[in-house]
Amino acid sequence: MLNSASARAHTNIALAKYWGKRDEELIIPMNSSLSLTLDHFYTDTQVTFDDSLTADFFELDNRILPATKLTPFLDLVRQKAGIKTFAAVKSFNHVPNQAGLASSASAYAALAAAASKAAGLELTRPELSRLARRGSGSASRSIYGGFVEWQEGHDDLTSVAVPIEEETDWKIGMLAIILNAGVKKIASRAGMQHVVKTSPYYPAWVKESQADIDALKQAIANRDFTQLGEISESNALRMHALNLAARPPFSYFEASTIRAITMIEELRAQGVSCYYTMDAGPNVKVLCQEEDLPTIKAYLAPAFGTENLLFARPGQGVKFLEGDL
Ligand code: PMV
Repeated sequence: MLNSASARAHTNIALAKYWGKRDEELIIPMNSSLSLTLDHFYTDTQVTFDDSLTADFFELDNRILPATKLTPFLDLVRQKAGIKTFAAVKSFNHVPNQAGLASSASAYAALAAAASKAAGLELTRPELSRLARRGSGSASRSIYGGFVEWQEGHDDLTSVAVPIEEETDWKIGMLAIILNAGVKKIASRAGMQHVVKTSPYYPAWVKESQADIDALKQAIANRDFTQLGEISESNALRMHALNLAARPPFSYFEASTIRAITMIEELRAQGVSCYYTMDAGPNVKVLCQEEDLPTIKAYLAPAFGTENLLFARPGQGVKFLEGDL
């Protein structure tokens, strides 16, 4: 057997974050989350099930890496398809790797699509979302384009992403300020485990998250950018407050993070509508409307360098690619 398929998936930025699991094995989150899929950052992956292989094989950006992290995920696909064949996985990441830009979201969404197709499975998008979730929670959302909600659910079947507005004509986006493109200090899996166990703020976080999602949906429906920005920023700060309140505490903030945040606040004080959010890394992501992008870039460029300001618009869901990568 030699069956191959390729897929492209885009990463996403969570406006209401996922930060804690109810079930570590199935990756069932403590709360629902809501994100915007982005057009600029994506992963292309080709999976080939090949009878001549004696182990799974993984190549990322033309470098051979251990397949140890991928094998349990590929086992899920093999189990569903009733095959035992090993796979060669070849990926190209167009996302600054592990910089808190959620490369795992695009990586596992592309892998779920390519691997399931190569194994002969024809999964629906909800099935793909559930499969991608098993690799990385945020990947469940990258199956769809535009605004997406990952509904927490209570088991493997019900914890799945649903599109809110796949093709959005809203001229908004995210400007990532790349402050440190290195490997993040604390992997999201470890960070969330730790806050669930030790942060006294955790119950308050879960309690507030549904209200954030409801308000974000309202903001999307009304094209209310101020509401979208305020809720997203507040949600991100509460996620990071969980980390500060954990025992022992930890933080993804670096000195340059504070500098960037301060500059966004300065811009806002000048009447420019922009808000920030952050994930499991020091980089700051600015939510803004396209019309304000030139002003925001001009203000930030002297401090951080134009080459470190990456803008992304709403992007598409996962799609299959023709031919070999
Ligand atoms: O999907 P993971 O395990 O990489 O976790 C993602 C966590 C955050 O990016 C911080 C938040 C989110 O909802 O994407």
